[in-house]
Amino acid sequence: MVRVFINGYGNIGRRLAAVLSSDKEVQFIGIAKYTADDKTKDAMDNGFDIYVPDGMVNQFKEKGYDITGVISQAIGGSDLVVDAAKEGGGYDNKKKLYEPMNKAAIFQGGEDRHGERSVADMIHNSRVNYAKAAGKAYVIQGSCNVSGMGRIMQPLIENFGDGIRRYDVTLIRRWADLEDSKDVKDSIEWDKNPHHQDDVRDFIPASNLYVDAYKVPSRMMHLHQMVVRFNGKAPSKDQIIETFRNEFGVAILNSARGTAAIRKKAMDLGFRHGDTNMVHIHQEVLRVQDDTIKISYSDDQTGMVIPENHLLMQSMILDRPRDEAIKRTDRIFQMTKKRRILEEEFK
Ligand SMILES: NC(=O)c1ccc[n+]([C@@H]2O[C@H](COP(=O)([O-])OP(=O)(O)OC[C@H]3O[C@@H](n4cnc5c(N)ncnc54)[C@H](OP(=O)(O)O)[C@@H]3O)[C@@H](O)[C@H]2O)c1
Repeated sequence: MVRVFINGYGNIGRRLAAVLSSDKEVQFIGIAKYTADDKTKDAMDNGFDIYVPDGMVNQFKEKGYDITGVISQAIGGSDLVVDAAKEGGGYDNKKKLYEPMNKAAIFQGGEDRHGERSVADMIHNSRVNYAKAAGKAYVIQGSCNVSGMGRIMQPLIENFGDGIRRYDVTLIRRWADLEDSKDVKDSIEWDKNPHHQDDVRDFIPASNLYVDAYKVPSRMMHLHQMVVRFNGKAPSKDQIIETFRNEFGVAILNSARGTAAIRKKAMDLGFRHGDTNMVHIHQEVLRVQDDTIKISYSDDQTGMVIPENHLLMQSMILDRPRDEAIKRTDRIFQMTKKRRILEEEFK
């Protein structure tokens, strides 16, 4: 049994807690809360042990919340911390807690890979470098956009390799998650220097990749348009679709009107948290012309990285072969089944 603590209980942390607390291979230590708000009640209702910063126990107790102890104590009793802090917070946690206590940690995609606040020397993408994480003490799980790009690029590389000349990807990013209370601004904003390009190059270094990123006023999902240029004539549409036919975590849809249709369908179908946990290639807008293919796929931002964290845990701590890990993750997340359902719904 691996003893796991989740440090943070936001959009990602609460999803991680839901899955890891029900995994029989995990002894679930609990979650950290930093603000005594009603999300604490949500964690209590889910039966999680709640740990808070030193000196804050009374503040939580005064509001009627049951607190098991302080965060440092929970980390002391864990083998692995899954850090789910807001972007950038993982670095301070590493310096203050994980390194001094000699604890392994998974960080999320909002943390830095390079520079002064770098938290780890690799970014994990289960489709590309799963095995490289085995035995590592610190690894970043790539963000939802970065995970999605890896999931599409790697099968293309394995099938068409040297034939590919360059990738130009436009990330159309949702403004906020459905659960976020912040307003969605009526604006389209661009990113001067999207981190996604360097992050993908971290695990696919040879890729000739150019990324632009825009945020749009939506809460539903990201949409990526990937333009792939080949040295000669591009493969046919059928060849591209066949490349993804049996890819774990990739659905091929043909009649979704937009990202909201998929999200709402996932909620109507009772998928946990309304997550599909995958990317969805939109076959009806997959275009091939001369030396170029254009693939558009939507990317379930909140759901994508949860099975990725689960896979990463199996590599880092359990040193399990990838095929076995995928089977286990699929049993827990039911992704193959969800894919079949979505493909039938949007055929
Ligand atoms: N949302 C997404 O779609 C998405 C997708 C992929 C990756 N990510 C990455 O996942 C990470 C978390 O994102 P999120 O969307 O879950 O953020 P979020 O909803 O804003 O939640 C952040 C959480 O951090 C907690 N927190 C505050 N101080 C902390 C500390 N020192 N250590 C640990 N946790 C602390 C907060 O707790 P309190 O509420 O108790 O103050 C809050 O629950 C980021 O790196 C993000 O880039 C997010």
